[in-house]
Amino acid sequence: MSKEINIVFLDDEQGILNSIDRLFVNASFGIFTTSDYKEALNIIDRENVKVVLSDHRMPNIKGTEFLKMVKAKNENVVRILFTGYAEFSSAEEAINVAEVYRFISKPWDKDELRHTIDQAMEHYDLVLENKSLLEATQQKNQELEELNKKLQYMYDKQKEFTSTVSHELRTPLASIKSSVDLVLSGETGELNEDQINFLSKSKDNVDRLSRLISDILDLAKMEDGKMRLRFELNDLGIIVGDAVEGYGPVCQEQGLFIKSDIASRLPKVICDVDKIHQVLNNLLGNAMKFTEKGGITVSCHHKPDSNIVRVCVKDTGPGIAAKDIEKLFQKFQQLGDSRQHVGGTGLGLSICKEIIDCHGGKIWCESELGRGTSFCFVLPVEERRKH
Ligand SMILES: Nc1ncnc2c1ncn2[C@@H]1O[C@H](COP(=O)(O)OP(=O)(O)O)[C@@H](O)[C@H]1O
Ligand SMILES: [Mg+2]
Repeated sequence: MSKEINIVFLDDEQGILNSIDRLFVNASFGIFTTSDYKEALNIIDRENVKVVLSDHRMPNIKGTEFLKMVKAKNENVVRILFTGYAEFSSAEEAINVAEVYRFISKPWDKDELRHTIDQAMEHYDLVLENKSLLEATQQKNQELEELNKKLQYMYDKQKEFTSTVSHELRTPLASIKSSVDLVLSGETGELNEDQINFLSKSKDNVDRLSRLISDILDLAKMEDGKMRLRFELNDLGIIVGDAVEGYGPVCQEQGLFIKSDIASRLPKVICDVDKIHQVLNNLLGNAMKFTEKGGITVSCHHKPDSNIVRVCVKDTGPGIAAKDIEKLFQKFQQLGDSRQHVGGTGLGLSICKEIIDCHGGKIWCESELGRGTSFCFVLPVEERRKH
């Protein structure tokens, strides 16, 4: 079986060509020797040629010119020039024009020639492999870019959809709510016990749906950076005190205590009062909802030398398992007993986190099963919040 021609050798001296043929007769690759440069170019077109070696001084063509043609045909082919004497101008031309890989000076050492050819073949394979790796990487990059664009498009569409649908749901829901309220009030005629029960259930579910929709809209706005916050200098102690006072009657009704431990002369923080109220109401609402015995303690403190004010809502409820704590601030996360989720949306803590993040603060949970739970947040005293 004839060997694949990987090497082309051009020289005008037949004696040299013969000795090259003899030198590579047992090589694993085929070598094509010729004194006709056109024939050499022909072979390069037809065979899997990896390395071309050329003499420089030949009657019909200069080696550099020939190698330039080779480069124009296939720049991957490794080009080697040999010269009978060191001629500076040809070296310069060879480097600049034909971009040769090596020079070999005549007369050559056989082993050195073999070695140079082996290296050139390896070089060819490496360059080709690099190129195909690069192409594959570029292709993958392009695919990733396209995928990213698609994802961004889908994400934008989903956000648009969420807020449009939520808006569209509000109007019919308000109409259902007012009709149910009207019938329940007895103004449209007396109701029997069954009717009152069924309608009360509908009313609870309508209320739950309204809360869910407004929570989803709130979150969508915050995630989109569209939530306008009214930042003002405030005394966090007063805000906390107000929230605790608001929960007094409900806690009493449920047989729970509620206490506050608010430091005097707290430094002011920059915050949106309504939004901080929303956070406190959610934390207090949760504490009350999940606590059966004992009660809630809310603290508000400032460590001297620190630039944060810290608020903690601590309860004597069931506590939260360590493995669940990290999931708490994710959307729609509701843990444990499903009876306690009545009325909840599982979005409250995500909203708290967004609000506190927007203030440049931090919110977290400390808890142990059976020992109650503390939800704490800090707000910066100085202007460290995000804009
Ligand atoms: N004080 C708490 N004690 C025990 N579990 C809590 C407490 N606060 C929150 N959780 C758990 O975290 C979940 C998520 O709370 P939240 O995001 O406010 O949603 P929701 O109150 O609508 O259920 C709750 O469903 C509950 O499982
Ligand atoms: Mg809640």
